[in-house]
Amino acid sequence: MKGLILSGGHGTRLRPITYSQQKQLIPVANKPILFYCIEDLINAGIHDIAIIVGPNKEQVIETVQSVEWNAKIAFICQDLPRGLAHAVKISEDFVKTDNFIMYLGDNLLKGGSVDFIRDFADSKVDASLLLTEVEDPRQYGVALVDEQKKIIVKLVEKPKNPPSNLSIVGIYGLTPRIFEAIDNIKPSWRGELEITDALHWLIENGYNVRYGMVQGWWKDTGRTEDILEANRLILDQIGTENSGIVESGTITGQVKIGKNTIIKGNSIIIGPVIIGHDCVISGSTIGPYTSIGDSSHIIESHISDSIVMEGGRIDHVDRVSDSLIGKNVTLKKQEPSKEGKSFVLGDGSQVTL
Ligand code: DAU
Repeated sequence: MKGLILSGGHGTRLRPITYSQQKQLIPVANKPILFYCIEDLINAGIHDIAIIVGPNKEQVIETVQSVEWNAKIAFICQDLPRGLAHAVKISEDFVKTDNFIMYLGDNLLKGGSVDFIRDFADSKVDASLLLTEVEDPRQYGVALVDEQKKIIVKLVEKPKNPPSNLSIVGIYGLTPRIFEAIDNIKPSWRGELEITDALHWLIENGYNVRYGMVQGWWKDTGRTEDILEANRLILDQIGTENSGIVESGTITGQVKIGKNTIIKGNSIIIGPVIIGHDCVISGSTIGPYTSIGDSSHIIESHISDSIVMEGGRIDHVDRVSDSLIGKNVTLKKQEPSKEGKSFVLGDGSQVTL
């Protein structure tokens, strides 16, 4: 069995962060989302993986190659985000005649997909989907199952009037039959070749498409609030480990602190929290549900429910919460001698004062 992870696309709903950073590389609990997908496939016994890369491909390749994986990882370039089925189509040379798992590189699953992958490997089906009940199915692919809840009878992508509340989760068990299906579909209204349409074609043509239900939580990290929610969910199980130096301060709950990080000035760390390596936390309150990237400085500030990426500097800022702060961002209190607030904000920035 092979693995195909999709890490292309523009990530427009996460601008301005995604102007400079590919969305699957955004860190959740200080680890790129993409790494959770790779680890999940490896845990399921898949060691032959290809990653679809598009805009910012150098960044994705460099980040993945900075780690030693227990897997062979290849990269396949997609010229433009022409749809999930297009990404599968250009991977035919990699897949050849094997079955494979397609994993959307912005999806996170509690407990991973090991059981789903094992069930698919043991079955003789043509495709297998993971489904879950959602409140608003209109933003997803949606499945209609028969009354006995045994087979899928219909699949539709982002319907205005959803036929059910069962959303398609971004992990698919596929066989080479999918290539024939893709050859028989046309781009959708949004100009993309939809994998949902290809799977629907398989159903309509009598192929065996099965499904399983997600156990535990699932997150499609398409928007800022989803990333912060994923951060909370992962931090809830982060555990405790201190490789830093606590000069003065109090630490409660699950807290991970990286090497050479100094906690001083009576700082208060309220877990769950992760702080990377080479950080300085001075006179500050951090947490709960906060991830601080490597080499960040948090001075006389209070931050909760947020992600600060590497190289962040938060200096004398009273309360920061529900924030996603990009790499090397400085946030500091205005000098008392100055009138007016001073900003350097990139395109599409959002500031709430
Ligand atoms: O997350 C689950 C949903 O994912 C499913 O319910 C939908 O049926 C499925 O179409 C998909 O919908 P999204 O709108 O969330 O897909 P998105 O455009 O965000 O792309 C998913 C991932 O695939 C993302 O990591 C970017 C990558 N991608 C996307 C496109 C369109 C590519 O690598 N190439 C592409 O051409």
